[in-house]
Amino acid sequence: MLDKNPIQMCCWKKLQDYYLNIKNFKIIDFFKKDKNRFEKFFINFKNKIFLDFSKNLIDIKVIKLFNNLLKEMEFDKFIFLMLSGEKINVTEKRSVLHIYSRDVKGGILKKYYKNNNNLVYVLNEVTLNLKKIKKFTKEIINGIWLGYSNCKIKNIVNIGIGGSNLGPKMSVKFLSDYKNHLNIYYVSNVDVIDIKNILSKISPKNTLFIICSKTFTTLETMSNADIARDWVLNYYKNNLMSLKKHFIAVSNNFKKVYLFGIDKNNIFFIPEWIGGRYSLFSSVGLSLSLSIGYKNFSLLLKGAHDMDKHFLNNNIYNNIPIILAIISIWYNNFFNYNNELVLVYNKYMSLFPLYLQQLVMESNGKYIDRGGNLIKEYNTSSVLFGGVGTDCQHSFFQLLHQGTQIIPCDFIGEIVNIKNNINKSHYKLISNLFAQSHALAFGDEYCNYFRHDSCEYDILNKYKYFKGNRPNNILLIKNITPYSLGSIISLYEHKVFIQGFILNIFSFDQWGVELGKKISNNIYYYLNNSNVLNKNIFDKSTMNLIKIFNNFNFKKK
Ligand code: F6P
Repeated sequence: MLDKNPIQMCCWKKLQDYYLNIKNFKIIDFFKKDKNRFEKFFINFKNKIFLDFSKNLIDIKVIKLFNNLLKEMEFDKFIFLMLSGEKINVTEKRSVLHIYSRDVKGGILKKYYKNNNNLVYVLNEVTLNLKKIKKFTKEIINGIWLGYSNCKIKNIVNIGIGGSNLGPKMSVKFLSDYKNHLNIYYVSNVDVIDIKNILSKISPKNTLFIICSKTFTTLETMSNADIARDWVLNYYKNNLMSLKKHFIAVSNNFKKVYLFGIDKNNIFFIPEWIGGRYSLFSSVGLSLSLSIGYKNFSLLLKGAHDMDKHFLNNNIYNNIPIILAIISIWYNNFFNYNNELVLVYNKYMSLFPLYLQQLVMESNGKYIDRGGNLIKEYNTSSVLFGGVGTDCQHSFFQLLHQGTQIIPCDFIGEIVNIKNNINKSHYKLISNLFAQSHALAFGDEYCNYFRHDSCEYDILNKYKYFKGNRPNNILLIKNITPYSLGSIISLYEHKVFIQGFILNIFSFDQWGVELGKKISNNIYYYLNNSNVLNKNIFDKSTMNLIKIFNNFNFKKK
C-alpha cells in the first residue's frame, strides 16, 4: 500500500516555504491583488451546488503546490487501487467500494473491472440490493405489507447507532419536505429513555422495526433490539411468527440475525466493502427510502454518483472535494488552526454537522501512519463541530469573531426555498449567512460600523473592533432535494478520503473505538455484582466510582 510521509515530500517543503511568504497576508489583500479573485475561487457543480472559496488565505500558487504534492504522492494510483478493489482498508482487510453503491449502471465500475473480475459481483450485489429496497419500499408505502394482525404499517423504528443511524436520520430530516405518511423514528442510545419514549407513542400492530447493524453485535443496538422484540412478543402473546411481520434486519452477519429470530427473507444485506459511515447508499438507507419513496431515494444515488464523477474527472482547480480537502490541511498543518466548523443555515440540515463528525473524525482521527509509524510531526484530523444559523450566532459566534483562536468555517445554505419563503424570512436567513461570512473574512474593513472619530470612544473601540481575516467557505445549494443531498454527502466523503490519503493514514478503520467498548463490558460485570472489587482491577478513580454506584444501587434492593 502506498506509504509516503507527506512532510518528507519535496512539495510539502515548498508549501512550508511558501507559507512563510504569505502567512502575514490578509484575505482582503488577496482580493485587492486580484480583481477576478471571486471568479477564480468559485466552482459551479451543475448549477446545483456552488462553492465560493475566495475568502481563504490561499492563492493559486498554494493550489498548484498541493496539486504537485498529490502527484508526488501518487494520488491517482491510490484512487486506482481503491476502485479496482484493492484492500486499501488494510487493517480490516477490506476493499473500499462505496462509490459503486451508487454507480447503478456500472459506468465507473466498467473502467476498472478488468483488473478485478470480482467487481462484476459487486455490481450484481448493488443491483439486487436496490431491487429489494425498491420492492419493499413500495409494499410498505402502499400498505401491501401488513403487520401480524393485518394492520397497515404506519411507524418505522430504525434501531442502529453510528453509521447505522446518523446517515439515514440526518437525511430524513434534511428531506422533510419529501416525507410521506409514515412516521420514522430512530433509536440509537443504550440509555433506555431513547426507546421507551418512542414505544410509548406507538403500537406494535402497525410498527416495523429495522434492526440496522452491519456487525449485528453492537451493544447499544442489540440491547434496544431485545427490548423491541420483547415488546412485540408481549403484544402477540409470545407468538414468534409475529416477528416475521414486524422485524427487518440490515446487516452483514446472517448468523446473528437468524439467532435473533429474524426471517431470512427479511434481511437486507450490507456488503463487506462498505464501511459503516459510508453506508447510507446501501441498505442502511432503507428507512430513508421508506420515508421519501424509492424514486427520490434513487435521485439521492444519482446526486452522489454525479459528485463521484465530478471528483474523478475534474482537475484540482474545478474539483470541490479536492479544494476543500487541501484548504483544510493547509490550515490544520501550516497555520495550526486545528478546529473546523460547519454552519448550516437551514433547520432541515441541522443534523448534517453531527453526521460529518463521525465521517471526519472516525475516519481521520488517527496517530499511526500507513507504514505503521507513530505520527509526531504533523496533525491528522481537525476537530469538527457545527451548528445551525442563525441560532449559533447568538451563542458561540463571539469566539469566532473575537476569540484568540481562528476556526475556519464552511457555511452551507439553500438559495431557493419555495415552501418556507414566508415574509421574506428566507431572505433574512441568507442575509445572515452572507453577513457572517463577510464579517469573519473582512472584519469591519468595508463598513466602518464601529469606528468613531471622537477620542472618548477610543478604548471602547478596541472591544468593538473586528479584525477579520477569519477564513471561510460558502457552499450554496440551489434547492434542498434528494439529488443535492446525495451530492454533498459524496462531496464530504471524498474530502475525507483525499485528506486521509495526504496524511498517510488508513481512513476506513476505527480501532480507536474498541478499547472503551471492552472496558465497559468489564465494568458492566462489576456494576452487576454486589461483592465486587477486592482486587485492584481498575485505577483508584474507577474503582471508587463503581463502589459509590453499587452502594446506592444495592442498598435500594
Ligand atoms: O463503534 C463504531 C462503529 O463501529 C461505527 O464505525 C459504526 O458505524 C457503528 O459502530 C455501528 O456499527 P454496526 O453497524 O456494526 O452496529
